[in-house]
Amino acid sequence: MSEGTTTPRIVAVIAAAGSGERLGGETPKPWRRLGGQTLVERAWRSFMPEALDRAGQRHRVDAIIVAVDVAYQAVAHGYIHQCSVPLTVVVGGATRTESVRQALRHVPPTAELVAIHDAARPFWPLDRWDELVDAVSRSDGAIFAIPVSDTLKRPQDNSLETVDRSDLWAAQTPQVFRADMLRQAHEAAKEEGIDATDDAELVRRVGGRLQIVRSTSANFKITDGADWSLAERVVSEAPSQPALRIGFGYDAHRLGGDGPLMLGGVMLAASGGLIGNSDGDVLLHAICDALLGAAALGDIGHHFPPDDPQYRGCDSREFVRATLHLLRASGFAPSQVDATVMAEAPKLTPHVTNMRETIAADLGIDVAMVSVKATTTEGMGFVGRREGIAAQAVVTIRTVLGSQS
Ligand code: CTP
Ligand code: MG
Repeated sequence: MSEGTTTPRIVAVIAAAGSGERLGGETPKPWRRLGGQTLVERAWRSFMPEALDRAGQRHRVDAIIVAVDVAYQAVAHGYIHQCSVPLTVVVGGATRTESVRQALRHVPPTAELVAIHDAARPFWPLDRWDELVDAVSRSDGAIFAIPVSDTLKRPQDNSLETVDRSDLWAAQTPQVFRADMLRQAHEAAKEEGIDATDDAELVRRVGGRLQIVRSTSANFKITDGADWSLAERVVSEAPSQPALRIGFGYDAHRLGGDGPLMLGGVMLAASGGLIGNSDGDVLLHAICDALLGAAALGDIGHHFPPDDPQYRGCDSREFVRATLHLLRASGFAPSQVDATVMAEAPKLTPHVTNMRETIAADLGIDVAMVSVKATTTEGMGFVGRREGIAAQAVVTIRTVLGSQS
């Protein structure tokens, strides 16, 4: 395994194929919503680069595999396009061990480390992720665990024997293993018909060296109704990030191109459009920049470089949709847009409704939350001389309820 500045290739497996019998209810446990998000979604989002980055971690997860009940396969597929790293959905098995084994079949051979996590633990300590991964460089696997704090009793001969808890730990997930070791452990378990409630036990059985990284009791597993109530309380009391953030964007392009004049995703003229690598839609570019700015995610040039041939002549609505994905991946959603286009000609008023509807559709917000205004500059400057068109946009975005921070 590589260490230090070189980040190992890591795959995260999420076990989410259980029904949650002890929790009960109609919806299987992984698909219950906590703070507006299913446990499955909370789990995969917690492994996204943005989440680990926010938690100040340097090790990245390169791919995520989610094991789900066959009945929820299609629902899980809906997550694929929202995830900024490759997400694979597999159908789990009758037991947790089998579900993980199914997922392991999809772990690419390049993977050095595999992290296994239960969807039933929505509060794992992301700020100790690096510690967990680094611990594997000194062993075959590392697990989060906490010292047992209850006094333990074993009923015996009509009495209760106290079990020494001084060297006992309660195991949690995520658990990270060397990929080859984990594969070997699961193959052996299959041959011997062994089923365990965690993967560390299977790795131990094939002689794997394991380490503990101290976790916290906040990383409890949701098992029964009382756990669920506690989880709801935790989410409702979690210190929320600022509910509202504001972003500003500006763009200008020169007129006189060969292509059509595109503004706000709407074609205003068949030729003589704005000159740019993409379709030159200054209004959409200003909105993208404002959205990225509000989320502190850089700017449009960073994400869609103007000299990148793949964006030549590109429909700028693609930028808007991609920006929306970036925002969502970071736990944000757009609320409102207010933009002004500065152009001497053509007259924009007849197109404003169409532009607003196009922008609203691409951002998944109500048209009433999108404002587009137009002004001339009374003959002054490059706009006044009809050399180009400029646009400014202000947006507000909000943090998505229940997104993991
Ligand atoms: N799990 C799984 N496949 C199974 C059983 C469990 O992927 N066949 C997953 C669960 O979805 C959960 C994790 O393993 O995220 C830990 O299991 P547990 O908390 O026991 O969940 P359930 O098995 O669903 O609950 P219960 O035992 O109460 O039925
Ligand atoms: Mg179970």
